Amino acid sequence: MKRDLRLGVNIDHVATIRNARGGGHPDPVHAAKAAEAAGADGITAHLREDRRHISDDDITNLMAAIRVPLNLEMAATEEMLGIALRHKPHAACIVPEKRQERTTEGGLDAAGGVDQLAPYVTALKDAGIRVSLFIEPDRGQLEAAVKLRAPVVELHTGAYCEAKGEERERQFRRIDEAARTAEELKLECHAGHGLTFDTVGAVAAIPTIIELNIGHFLIGEAIFGGLESAIKRMRALMDKARAEAGGERSA
Ligand code: PXP
Repeated sequence: MKRDLRLGVNIDHVATIRNARGGGHPDPVHAAKAAEAAGADGITAHLREDRRHISDDDITNLMAAIRVPLNLEMAATEEMLGIALRHKPHAACIVPEKRQERTTEGGLDAAGGVDQLAPYVTALKDAGIRVSLFIEPDRGQLEAAVKLRAPVVELHTGAYCEAKGEERERQFRRIDEAARTAEELKLECHAGHGLTFDTVGAVAAIPTIIELNIGHFLIGEAIFGGLESAIKRMRALMDKARAEAGGERSA
């Protein structure tokens, strides 16, 4: 079956656990291979400026070991651009980065940073790397992605996942509307951050979203039932939601 919704597995937090003791175990490359075997369509890794989880060597080793595409999440800095251009991953997702944050707390302000971001998008694209911008589900940010000639956007689903009740519904409507606007603007649309077994279905059912990137929850679930089982269950929930929404396609 040809899937029209890809699952990118983010393996950052395998590195978080490894780094807690400073050795080599658990190895994010081992996790990436296991994710690949369990049905991940891609592997995502965020090389942060402070190297709190993924290391430079992890990127080298992932590039050598995995067969599915690598999506490198990176801040728009000269250092990260140099690393991306050296490795030439399949994709690079430009994310905002603050040293004090626990995780990527909000989307990139593409609308307010067109001039600063433009050289990064151009350099990555010129190297044949598929560029995405991690943005809030907001029309202004989507229009900025068009202005920047970024082919892909990834919508930040964190606020939706964290919210409850009516506020969650309101946050979901923002994602749904932005995903449809992305198609209208001819942007490939991905989504991710904070997704769980409970929150993935509604997002997976949005037909114009073609990739979800999921990490922390899957690695957490892997503690209880194994990574393979967590990925397979996530995959099944995504496929079920997409099929029920009428979006399944055969090869
Ligand atoms: N997408 C992007 C751009 C991210 O920065 C992250 C977190 O690194 C994710 C997806 C995955 O988020 P989570 O680990 O909460 O599933």
